Amino acid sequence: MIRTAILISGGGSNMVRLAESMTGDHPARPVLVVSNRPDAGGLLKARDMGIDTAIVDHKDFADREAFETKLHETLLAANPDVICLAGFMRVLNGSFVQKWQGRMLNIHPSLLPKYKGLHTHQRAIEAGDTEAGVTVHMVTPALDDGPILGQARVPVLASDTPDDLAARVLKAEHALYPAVFRRFVEQLN
Ligand code: GAR
Repeated sequence: MIRTAILISGGGSNMVRLAESMTGDHPARPVLVVSNRPDAGGLLKARDMGIDTAIVDHKDFADREAFETKLHETLLAANPDVICLAGFMRVLNGSFVQKWQGRMLNIHPSLLPKYKGLHTHQRAIEAGDTEAGVTVHMVTPALDDGPILGQARVPVLASDTPDDLAARVLKAEHALYPAVFRRFVEQLN
């Protein structure tokens, strides 16, 4: 069984889809959901699904290194094989990433390499793009830059606000992340 930890910062809809997918003959199971925000809605959803949760609040630490040391220790206690970032909104520093390199995936709401970082939907609309989408990729020390494991595309409509586009992309995320994750863990077995 491939032990999977999921890192969140918010509502956790991708976390729910990932966790729901890990049943039956799926080789992975969710063992821990960690949030850097104590008020993240996803924490309650994880608990409702019977998944252990932990909070490592970045505001409790003097600097990024201290935060990441605690995050690393918290993860180690659950002994995960793989980590999924699912709406985790803290940039992770190179030394943390190196510890989990090759075993950490991220979902990013753009067609990478376009629009790394924040405000992806607004940037796609402002650029006049006619399509947008989502990418699942391996996490490497450079932000939103690791090898791409899968992408899904959606149209951008002329009337779209960033929220409209975000909602359309999020639906595509919910299909893409579980599919790519399953393919990833199957090749680990
Ligand atoms: C998702 O759209 C995800 O792609 C994005 O945050 C949202 C989280 O939603 N992630 C990033 O922007 C990472 N830089 P969720 O909490 O409902 O899964």
